[in-house]
Amino acid sequence: MSPAPALRHYLQFSDFTADEYAYVFARAALIKKKFKAYEKHQPLTDRTLAMIFEKASTRTRVSFEAGMYQLGGSVVHLTTGDSQLGRAEPIEDSAKVISRMVDLVMIRTYEQTKIEAFAAHSRVPVINGLTNEFHPCQILADIFTYIEHRGSIKGRTVAWVGDGNNMANTWLQASEILGFKVHVSTPSGYEVDQSIAGIRSADSYQVFKDPMEACRGADLVTTDVWTSMGYEAENEARRAAFADWCVDEEMMRAAQPDALFMHCLPAHRGEEVQAEVIDGPQSVVWDEAENRLHAQKALMEFLLLGRQPG
Ligand code: CP
Ligand code: NVA
Repeated sequence: MSPAPALRHYLQFSDFTADEYAYVFARAALIKKKFKAYEKHQPLTDRTLAMIFEKASTRTRVSFEAGMYQLGGSVVHLTTGDSQLGRAEPIEDSAKVISRMVDLVMIRTYEQTKIEAFAAHSRVPVINGLTNEFHPCQILADIFTYIEHRGSIKGRTVAWVGDGNNMANTWLQASEILGFKVHVSTPSGYEVDQSIAGIRSADSYQVFKDPMEACRGADLVTTDVWTSMGYEAENEARRAAFADWCVDEEMMRAAQPDALFMHCLPAHRGEEVQAEVIDGPQSVVWDEAENRLHAQKALMEFLLLGRQPG
């Protein structure tokens, strides 16, 4: 048996190199092919994943839980309400205890500093299942989906229409690592912040006041809810500010004729996206959601076992 790889966490997109992403995407394609053929792929037999949710989830919960079982392992599901996390047990103590009992931890929480504190005291790999600042597992699946439909994303243009949120920040990190461009259009007051996004320079993205201009010539148009989890108190102000940031058919017409539309979901038709777009022929949102499963299986295998032959 080959030795376990050095402890690695996946807390933000910049935790892997372009070469590692090339491996993980190829591995996800192989794992998906086996899954579709009902062929067993169980390299994580007897391994346990702890999933900690401090915010709601459908896709992240189902994809990590089903994925871990399919890989031969098992899952423990914790929420703030039903664990001592909700009763102020220090995050460092929780990390020390949980990571003595399981092989891998996935956390969905608020501040990025919280997941970093957990990882700093964890004996096992920690995966970011969404924080206020980042959503790396989603962009992993999104880029895998882009590659499946259109080939390499290198040199392509992604239009981001909407909030300068965790998804936008993660797209920016990905563009710097994988060599593509992001056209960002947000309402004023909701701009991306380069220092929060954690990118070295502004070379890989361009800011547009007009969302239509951001979409012009884009290979992929993508958006997200106007109000992310944790920001519900701002709902009314956001509804007013974001009214023009709705991806519609006109914006899709401004993009490349073969442009794809993506949305991490859940979506609000009639707010950030028109029903005709998300339910239209350029939308790949269902493939995108399914690919969370395949991409994260490749991610979990890579963190626990490193690169695998064949
Ligand atoms: N896209 C995504 O992360 O969905 P959930 O909130 O349902 O997990
Ligand atoms: N930006 C959204 C993504 C949900 C998957 C949020 O953080 O709520």
